[in-house]
Amino acid sequence: MATMATQPRPAAAQGSPYVPSPAIVVNVQEMTAAEKLFTIEFSDGRKLGQQPGQFVQVSVMGIGECPISISSSPTRPKNFELCIRKAGMVTDYLHTLEPGAVIGIRGPLGHGFDVSELHGKDILIVAGGLGLAPVRSLIQYILDERARFGQFHLLYGAREPKEILFRDDLAAWRESPDVKCAVTVDRGDEQWRGKVGVVTTLFKELPKLNPTETMVVVVGPPVMFKFVVLEVLSRRIPQGNIYCSLERRMKCGIGKCGHCQANNVYVCMEGPVFKYGQLKAMREALE
Ligand SMILES: Cc1cc2nc3c(=O)[nH]c(=O)nc-3n(C[C@H](O)[C@H](O)[C@H](O)COP(=O)(O)OP(=O)(O)OC[C@H]3O[C@@H](n4cnc5c(N)ncnc54)[C@H](O)[C@@H]3O)c2cc1C
Ligand code: FES
Repeated sequence: MATMATQPRPAAAQGSPYVPSPAIVVNVQEMTAAEKLFTIEFSDGRKLGQQPGQFVQVSVMGIGECPISISSSPTRPKNFELCIRKAGMVTDYLHTLEPGAVIGIRGPLGHGFDVSELHGKDILIVAGGLGLAPVRSLIQYILDERARFGQFHLLYGAREPKEILFRDDLAAWRESPDVKCAVTVDRGDEQWRGKVGVVTTLFKELPKLNPTETMVVVVGPPVMFKFVVLEVLSRRIPQGNIYCSLERRMKCGIGKCGHCQANNVYVCMEGPVFKYGQLKAMREALE
């Protein structure tokens, strides 16, 4: 019997941005008490074809749909990964799924990082908490295309050791000669032997950065963003060299409903990745 995953779809549905494509959960990995990493493949075998920094709309029949950043790089196209925090109706349900479950995916959506603008530059990525989920795609991209980039620094901060995401990746990145990776937590615990302090305390470990040749990517909660940007600007890095990814409440994800609007900008279309200069002009975006 044909199922939702195997049933042939009308040609008009296949190209429509409104219609979710059936996709299969091929693996689920528990990362923390609140986050799981889902590996997903489209039922018809098509590749997602994302840019780092883009997102998809994930839907569950009878429950709803929500935007989730793509955590894996287009240089690893076999499948794609989503790191999902339990936060409400759709995400709670997604956390109950096991390999073999069928969900709906629309996308990739939005504007991601302009990787061609990053080519040839030194890269500094600063991520806080769940902010590592959207930038992991870019980190994998840079590591897979390593010869195209200069120095590569990654600073990551979590509130507590038990909230650290992508532990296996962080361990591998810390061993890798291709990236200088430092991790800190706001509050340690009895087992934690690493650094303690907010993510900006890691800036003192950075070498002198070449202001015009360094591109900076900052993704995390608004309070972190504010202090990290001050650090970056104090190193005379121009505003145009700073990228960030913005989370707004979204519904359609394709510029139709206005839910994501900040000032006169539809974040789902023009973002979620913006340059700092663009964000400063959108006062509502930083509130
Ligand atoms: C571009 C983008 C990328 C994202 N990437 C990720 C990601 O990689 N991983 C991830 O885990 N999350 C990500 N998110 C956040 C994720 O989309 C939300 O956590 C998700 O929409 C929650 O959906 P839900 O149905 O599970 O929760 P909901 O049931 O919608 O509830 C979520 C929370 O919001 C509250 N809420 C619901 N509706 C309203 C309302 N109208 N007004 C005020 N509060 C309300 C609820 O009480 C609850 O606390 C991203 C969001 C965006 C916009
Ligand atoms: S989410 Fe509907 S316009 Fe952006």
